[in-house]
Order: sequence, then structure tokens, then C-alpha cells
Amino acid sequence: MELLDLVKKIEESKNIVVLTGAGISHESGIPTFRGKDGLWEKYKPEELATPWAFEKNPKLVWEWYNYRREIIAKAKPNECHYLIAELEKEKDLTLITQNIDGLHELAGSRDIIELHGNIWRVKCTKCSYKEINRDVPLKEIPPKCPKCVGLLRPDVVWFGEPLPTEELNDAMELSAKCDLFIVIGTSLVVQPAGSLPFIALENRAFVVEVNPEETILSQRAHLFFKMKAVEFARRFKEVWKELC
Ligand code: OAD
Repeated sequence: MELLDLVKKIEESKNIVVLTGAGISHESGIPTFRGKDGLWEKYKPEELATPWAFEKNPKLVWEWYNYRREIIAKAKPNECHYLIAELEKEKDLTLITQNIDGLHELAGSRDIIELHGNIWRVKCTKCSYKEINRDVPLKEIPPKCPKCVGLLRPDVVWFGEPLPTEELNDAMELSAKCDLFIVIGTSLVVQPAGSLPFIALENRAFVVEVNPEETILSQRAHLFFKMKAVEFARRFKEVWKELC
């Protein structure tokens, strides 16, 4: 029984890393990027999620982020977000997420590395000003920096931009030294996040994947749960509770 194997593996592991992507928040009502109904099927990333797009048309970019903030503001963490937060209370577990929706924090996770930023944080394009801004809708579009004349932008990573250095270094280091690496709901096509489970594999970690679709990792993972995140969380908890 594969779930039993996973529960045992979690029990005996010293350092666990969980990597999540848009798929984990799909059942909370937030669209993914790729695949049927994915955001990148309807919108062009080069027009909405690059520094050049923002330079050309900050209003358009902010309208799109405002739309996404409206969706995310209505969303609640699901059973899989809560499961990861519960596991963190029992084990040495670090969560690395590509998601910018903040649902892991809402579910109670604390040790989180946000590789692609956070949609509720905004930063100035001219000075070092940053703030948490949860206004939905925003009071003005595009919002202006209260400290200087600059425009504020979402503090997220856009195409063509590097990931935050400290977060990326920590993520790579943890992936190399963990003994269990669990990947949930990511297509793994965006680098460098997509290479983290392979770093873990090379360093002999036990690698587990949860995804209703196969990815480039599925054949190489030690366990592949071909299912949605919430179904996985429910089934996992049944087995976990029986054993504890
Ligand atoms: P993708 O949209 O590329 O992939 C979502 C993955 O979730 C797919 O592999 C789906 O099969 C899977 N999935 C869908 N529903 C699921 C469910 N209910 N439970 C579990 N898995 C499910 O999203 P990401 O891999 O997160 O970057 O995309 C990576 C990055 O590409 C994003 O962070 C974003 C995007 O461009 C930036 O904006 C920088």
C-alpha cells in the first residue's frame, strides 16, 4: 500500500521538503497556468507578466493582477494546504512554493519559502519601499509609492526576472540535503523551481509526487500518486490517523 509506505517514510524522515505549485490551489478555486482553463491559455504572459509589459502599460498589468487578487481574496485553503501545515507541526518540514496566493500561510504553514513572491505584497519600481496591500479592488490603478514618485508593482517574479537570491539558495540547499521531497501540483516546466526535485533525487532523497497528470518527474519519483491534491490529503489522513 503506497500511502502506508509514505506515512512510514514521513515518520522516519529527518528533513522533509514539500514543493507546491498552482495545482494545490486549484480546488480552492484559483486557476492554474497551463492545461485546460489555464491562465496562459487565455492570456499572453509577455503582455501581462514581464517587466517590459509593466513599463509599456502598467494600468493593464495592474488590472490583470487586480482581477487575480479578487479571485484569490475569495479563496480558502483546502485540505491539502491544511495537511502540510499539520505535518509541519510534527516534523522538520520546509515548504517551498511557487504560488503567490498566500493560502499556505492562511492554512497555518510557517516555514515557507515563496520562490515567486506574494500577490499581497507590493514594491516600488524606483525606491526600496514595500508594503502589504490587501485592498480588493485597489484604490488606484496603478498605485503610487507613498515615499517617492515611483509606481508600485506586485512583488512577484515576472518572466525574464531572477528569483529572489536568498529564497532560491535556501531552496536549493534544502533540496540537496533533505531525505524526503514531496511535490504537489506543479507541472515542473518553470525553472529553476522545476529542477528542485531532481536535485533531491541526485542526492538520494526519497521523492514523492502528487498530480492528476504525469510530469517529467512521474516516472522517476519513488511514489507517484496520480490524483488531485484534496483526494490525496483525504486518503493520506485516513491512513495516518489509523497508524497514530
Ligand atoms: P502549472 O499551471 O504549470 O501546472 C499546474 C499543475 O497542477 C499541472 O501539472 C496539473 O496537472 C496539476 N494540477 C491541476 N489540478 C490539480 C489538483 N487539483 N491537484 C493537484 N495537481 C493539480 O502551474 P505551476 O507548475 O505552479 O510563474 O507553474 C509554475 C509557474 O509558471 C508559476 O509559478 C507561474 C507560472 O508562469 C510565474 O508567474 C513566475
